[in-house]
Amino acid sequence: MRSKVTKRFGKYGGVYIPEVLMEPIKELEEAWNAHKISEDFLEKFHHVLKTYAGRPTPLTEIPSFSKAIRGPRIFLKREDLLHTGAHKLNNTLGQCLIAKKMGKKRIIAETGAGQHGVATATACAYMGLSCVVYMGKKDVLRQEPNVKRMQLLGAEVIPVDKGSGTLKDAINEAMRDWSKNYEESHYCLGSALGPHPYPEMVAFFQSVIGEEVQAEITPDVVVACVGGGSNAIGIFTPFIGEARLIGVEAGGKSKKLGEHAARFEGGRPGVLHGTYTYLLQDKEGQIVETSSISAGLDYPAVGPHHADLHDQKMAEYTSATDEEALAAFKLLAQTEGIIPALESAHALAYLVREASKFPKETVIVVNLSGRGDKDLPELFAKGVV
Ligand SMILES: Cc1ncc(COP(=O)(O)O)c(C=O)c1O
Repeated sequence: MRSKVTKRFGKYGGVYIPEVLMEPIKELEEAWNAHKISEDFLEKFHHVLKTYAGRPTPLTEIPSFSKAIRGPRIFLKREDLLHTGAHKLNNTLGQCLIAKKMGKKRIIAETGAGQHGVATATACAYMGLSCVVYMGKKDVLRQEPNVKRMQLLGAEVIPVDKGSGTLKDAINEAMRDWSKNYEESHYCLGSALGPHPYPEMVAFFQSVIGEEVQAEITPDVVVACVGGGSNAIGIFTPFIGEARLIGVEAGGKSKKLGEHAARFEGGRPGVLHGTYTYLLQDKEGQIVETSSISAGLDYPAVGPHHADLHDQKMAEYTSATDEEALAAFKLLAQTEGIIPALESAHALAYLVREASKFPKETVIVVNLSGRGDKDLPELFAKGVV
């Protein structure tokens, strides 16, 4: 694992925060800098990943899916099989271990799809921490099973009805809570975004995904969906400069601003939630609403590392529409018996569209960031599956 300090990714990243957050951010940065190079901490982190979370996760070849789309060899990195059903637990276990070392008793989190909320509530139950999760009202409705799961795990879920009632608004409220309660509370941010040290810290905890892939296989192409960007940066990190990296954003309903969450297609650089990165904004710099069938990709900013990889042409970014993601969701279920999260289905949708163009000997690894059970009640209710 890497341990250098990365406050900036090219011109992106940084620490753009109000004064009230300066003190907790400084305290967190100091703790992070100390623990990321501590053998004791790293040993504990890997022990918990192995004995509690279920790492390493398997790599599964999916020949029937590949045949159906006339593609080359495709493997899935099975983060859906991690405890709680998504990659998010890698990060929450790491951050909660740090919070304990800092003497914090209470964890604040935001959540979109509910997976980060469930992963935080799980880590808190496991480590004896109290947990409060902010969740946009729209997401509370469309990810109901995860709301119940968080409550069962002992977390308090606070619906946020400000703004669009999605992830952006939940992050606003979580940061507000942190600014008032940081003496006893740690803010466990769920993706590789926000002010330093979050992008570096979250990428560090998630890079275990790519490291496990690297130990097993040498891919030509690595594909991942990109919300804030944590599962993508986690699987990309060891392959930067080594393989073709493809991030897939949410293309939503259409290419019209407000109807998607593809920051690299309709966005430009600006500051949101403490970091300088690509944002979906109007001419005056106001953040615009986003739209995606998947709550976890429905966010107007992308992690700053991806902004730099994009500009450096070290990774490519594309998008898949709601309709394409749904078709891929069904195809994986029917050909391989695996129900992906709607977020992960965006990465598969890219392959459905493009895989037949790759030479047959190409080896592609897709990060299957999560399982789709959380999406089923909403999809059944809408009659789309
Ligand atoms: C299963 C799954 N995949 C992907 C994401 C997107 O987040 P990130 O881009 O940080 O991996 C989420 C977010 O909730 C998720 O639940």
